[in-house]
Amino acid sequence: MSYAEFVGWGRYLPSLVVENKDLVRFVDTTDHWIKTRTGIKERRYSHVSTAEMGWLAAERALASADMLSNDLDLIILGSTTANEVCPNTASSIKNKLKAYSAAAIDLNSACTSWLYGVSMISDMIKAGSIETGMVIGSERLSLGLDWNKRESCCLFGDGAGAVILKKSHDERGVIAFRISCVPDSREFLAIPKWGIQPAIHTNDLHLSMNFDGAAIFKRAVKSMSFDCEFVLDRAGLSIEDIDVFIPHQANIRIINAVGSKLGIDPKKTVVTIDKYGNTSAASIPISLCEALKNDMIRGGETILIASFGAGLSCGAAVVKWGDSTKNIRDTAFSIPAYQGDVHNLLEDSFSYHGISYN
Ligand code: COA
Repeated sequence: MSYAEFVGWGRYLPSLVVENKDLVRFVDTTDHWIKTRTGIKERRYSHVSTAEMGWLAAERALASADMLSNDLDLIILGSTTANEVCPNTASSIKNKLKAYSAAAIDLNSACTSWLYGVSMISDMIKAGSIETGMVIGSERLSLGLDWNKRESCCLFGDGAGAVILKKSHDERGVIAFRISCVPDSREFLAIPKWGIQPAIHTNDLHLSMNFDGAAIFKRAVKSMSFDCEFVLDRAGLSIEDIDVFIPHQANIRIINAVGSKLGIDPKKTVVTIDKYGNTSAASIPISLCEALKNDMIRGGETILIASFGAGLSCGAAVVKWGDSTKNIRDTAFSIPAYQGDVHNLLEDSFSYHGISYN
């Protein structure tokens, strides 16, 4: 019997930190509202592309696994904000990594893209069709936000995280997963002009997120709790067997509601939303790296992961962590820090949305 062990991980967080007090200068909101209703204090906005962020997270994951890019059989890029659709963006990361033997897939199920990708690669390794795969979650949502829509634009941040899964004979990696999609809920989170159909018929690419936060909130809590209970049952475990809980970081109140429904000790829950906001497909790999950095994962833990996003896609997984917990070697690669402020970075977006900056 084969398993797919997590042997490498890495992340990239953009250098530009945007605090709530910075947002107040161009969005009709307050620091108090954002903090109390979402748990977010600050987020990062990127000056480089989704592919560039994903590439650096990938280089760091390779370094931590002490592996060469040529060892990869498959790279999946989970993202809603791929630079390009054709050719796909995963192939540009593959080329920059010099991962000559790897196939490259873009996968978009919004915030759940990374978990969907991990589930697929894990089963491909177990089935014997590949031996080593990388799943990257990378998002540059700041480019798609409408600063007139305060209900959504304060929630998101940019960033990237990557993991490497490798064939193992020990019982490690994903031991149970469920991927799902709530029916009849597509309209609650949608960016209507983002696709070939509207572009061809209307020649109008004005991007603006349609968002029903309360409807998403209820379905997120219900579906993530259901999927977590489903995977625990499938793995033959109870919530007391879980050492670390890594939920998608959309809202601290969603995280707490799912946690209390499941009955998990809040000390076991990884929370990064205060620092990074909702980074969509990158949120779980970024949080996984945080848990490793903070010694919440030291080796041998049983980890419960839950995700939710537009679609409304959903999923959960139980992961047995192996021995790897420390970065084995550093990478020489880096991205120079952004030298301007949020106004410099978003100037075009502000003028596009008719926003004035105070
Ligand atoms: N600043 C100030 N006020 C805001 C605001 C902001 N940024 N955004 C919304 N409001 C206002 C609303 O206009 C509303 O005002 P009203 O009562 O006068 O009409 C009020 O705050 C309450 O809004 P409501 O939507 O009832 O709050 P909520 O408790 O549902 O919280 C979200 C809103 C968006 C934070 C919450 O619903 C949420 O996190 N939803 C899920 C997040 C999500 O979908 N993420 C992406 C997919 S993973």
